[in-house]
Amino acid sequence: MHRRKIIIDTDPGQDDAVAILLALASPEALEVLGITCVAGNVPLPLTEKNARIICELAGKPDVKVFAGCDRPLARKLVTAEHVHGKTGLDGPVLPEPTMPLQADHAVDFIIKTLRSEPSGTVTLCPLGPLTNIATAFQKAPDIAARVGEIVLMGGAYFEAGNITPAAEFNIYVDPEAADIVFKSGAPITVMPLDVTHKALVTKERNDAFRALKTPVGAAVAEMTEFFERFDREKYGSPGAPLHDPCVTAYLLQPELFTGRHINVEIETLSELTLGMTVADWWRVTERAPNCTFMGNIDAEGFFALLTERLARL
Ligand code: BDR
Ligand code: CA
Repeated sequence: MHRRKIIIDTDPGQDDAVAILLALASPEALEVLGITCVAGNVPLPLTEKNARIICELAGKPDVKVFAGCDRPLARKLVTAEHVHGKTGLDGPVLPEPTMPLQADHAVDFIIKTLRSEPSGTVTLCPLGPLTNIATAFQKAPDIAARVGEIVLMGGAYFEAGNITPAAEFNIYVDPEAADIVFKSGAPITVMPLDVTHKALVTKERNDAFRALKTPVGAAVAEMTEFFERFDREKYGSPGAPLHDPCVTAYLLQPELFTGRHINVEIETLSELTLGMTVADWWRVTERAPNCTFMGNIDAEGFFALLTERLARL
């Protein structure tokens, strides 16, 4: 299998953590060039620390972790402690990390990597607000054309919003950044809430994580148990949606997902619908398609893949 080079851009977050674990458990398919952290679910000092905690949990302390932007391009940071807890990784008790944070700024790492690797060979995997990616595109306008693919978690169409009635969290936190990325011309694949709300951790699925009888299995079970209390209350759903791992699963088994190549524009002006992903799902405009917007997932296949891979760590 062709080994894909990826940069994971993230704001861990329990579901980000599972996405990272799935990538680190799949070295034959994915080469993680670096993990770049951004402010989102919790402030930057916590997201970069959480990324290192997760690498150490996976037994991969050599992964390069970078700190990036600590606030959105043009707005005050909105965080989501009400979902993820005070630390962003509430649930399991995990040791403080000892592996170092890289000295470079995440944005500089993204630019350097896209310029030094052969054009079209690096995949960006944003799992949080798009601030780091947009800043890199602004600072180095040549790099967007060198991106192989951007596979991101963000947005919604049929599911509308989770942080406002109209907007999904990652896009809402930094709509100006999302606008830059969606207009960048880079090939984009989107995992919106329409997909991730079907990737639900039921009790049976969580029991399967715990039954791995490993520190990783236990930590994943405890993380999802922590943040499912929020989703159960809000949606009446049987468990937590594993949003961000859909990105990693797509890289490993794209056939688990179906979607449409359509136009998506980001609302940056209206107070009421700020951060909305205006998706032309029914192709009612002449606007040129700029992304593949996923709509469905084989949830059984997704959880089978996830559990099998987590068992390796
Ligand atoms: C997204 O927002 C965050 O809370 C999750 O980590 C995910 O990336 C879902 O809207
Ligand atoms: Ca996230």
